[in-house]
Amino acid sequence: MNDALSQQGPVSGEAGTRGSWGSSFGFIMAAAGSAVGLGNIWGFPMQVGKGGGAIFVLLYLCCVVFICFPILVAELALGRASGRDPIGAFQVTSPATPWWLVGALGVTAGVGILSFYCVIAGWTLAYIWYSLSGAAGQNPPAFFGAFVADGGKNVFLSFVVLAITAGIILGGVREGIEKASKLMMPALFAILILLGVRALFLPGAAEGLVYYLKPDLREIANISVLNAALGQAFFSLSLGMGAIITYGSYLSKKTNAVGSAAWVAGLDTMVALLAGFVVFPVGFSISGFNPAEGGPGLIFAVLPSLFSSMPGGALFGAAFFVLLSLAALTSAISLLEVPTASLVDRGWRRGKAVLLMTALVAAIAVPSALSQGAVPWLAKVPGTGMDFLSLMAVVWNNWALPIGGLFISIFVGWVWGADKALAELAPEGKIFPGARLWVFLIRYVCPLAILFVIVMTARGMFAG
Ligand code: PFF
Repeated sequence: MNDALSQQGPVSGEAGTRGSWGSSFGFIMAAAGSAVGLGNIWGFPMQVGKGGGAIFVLLYLCCVVFICFPILVAELALGRASGRDPIGAFQVTSPATPWWLVGALGVTAGVGILSFYCVIAGWTLAYIWYSLSGAAGQNPPAFFGAFVADGGKNVFLSFVVLAITAGIILGGVREGIEKASKLMMPALFAILILLGVRALFLPGAAEGLVYYLKPDLREIANISVLNAALGQAFFSLSLGMGAIITYGSYLSKKTNAVGSAAWVAGLDTMVALLAGFVVFPVGFSISGFNPAEGGPGLIFAVLPSLFSSMPGGALFGAAFFVLLSLAALTSAISLLEVPTASLVDRGWRRGKAVLLMTALVAAIAVPSALSQGAVPWLAKVPGTGMDFLSLMAVVWNNWALPIGGLFISIFVGWVWGADKALAELAPEGKIFPGARLWVFLIRYVCPLAILFVIVMTARGMFAG
């Protein structure tokens, strides 16, 4: 193993045990599957609501283009050049330095994020059934509150999500992840477009669209909105924890990495924007709707009341939660694949690695599943004023991911070197258009902007 570690470049080829994508399309579907998740459909509209509407959308788009896209390209280059999991990627490109710790932080973040992500994904699974049966539509906020407080049900649902995720990953990179993503992602796009068209014909849709699309430019100087927009873009594109390094490590040298990255970022952004086209017209068609008060209730407690009051609403609602479950599942796959790959690259059999990591995540998921009312001290963890699930989200999303992203941009821009990344991205010597701009962004703009987010998040925490 150590010999392999000190070797420069990819460890295994197409026939190796670690696996590889079958096609560029398969890779794009899998990486877009990782990016498109609860963050887009549940988180993005919620953040738009909190951030004052269209101005948040505008800032979010700037963050995606100028900060997140360059990091996406950097993670892909690092993954493909090393052919390794996040820890190995740093060991191969910078041997005998402590940089591998950045990879280790990413692997830990994968376990941490999945431990609460699977709880919310469990809610979306249950709401497919509750929409069909009509249960979710009778007094939705009370129903939602009682549902999440049922500890046994929540633990069970989280385990179901983890079992499905593990089952897909056990199939391997090409037969498992790639096959599932190629089926699920087009289905997701189709359902979302269908729902968007349906939502646009609802009464009140126009008011929702104005709120969503017409920016109030006075808000542009509001630092907290920029802070939230960058954090959201980061989480949404699965950056900062090595998910894209891992997926990049299965990528063939023949694939156009920058072009694929553009597809992934484009699809992720499109799904987030489309989710807004569903949620805001639907929300504004309900009297007394206040987008700023969204929270988890925006999806689970508000939308079901609309679904229940319209013709065909049960099916419309069920389709919406099928969509959310598919999105969550393809993201959960990438979250579990990161720690799994870190064991596989250390000589473990895939099956054993998947089982061990799934068991670990399941154990950490229990307190999150019990934190929404089932166990009082988990509903308000002493000293934090937060429930355990929200605490996990803050620790991993607001801290671990931006810190990981900061180090990745410094590493690729300065330590491994932008020139080596460029060589990896242009195997036949053909530099991609905008390469010089990319170097400038990855070396200066990304580290400074992310540092800004970390400092602002810290200030916000200590102030409030
Ligand atoms: N991008 C996913 C979402 O938007 O829901 C969440 C996520 C998946 C974050 C994978 C990080 C990651 F590595």
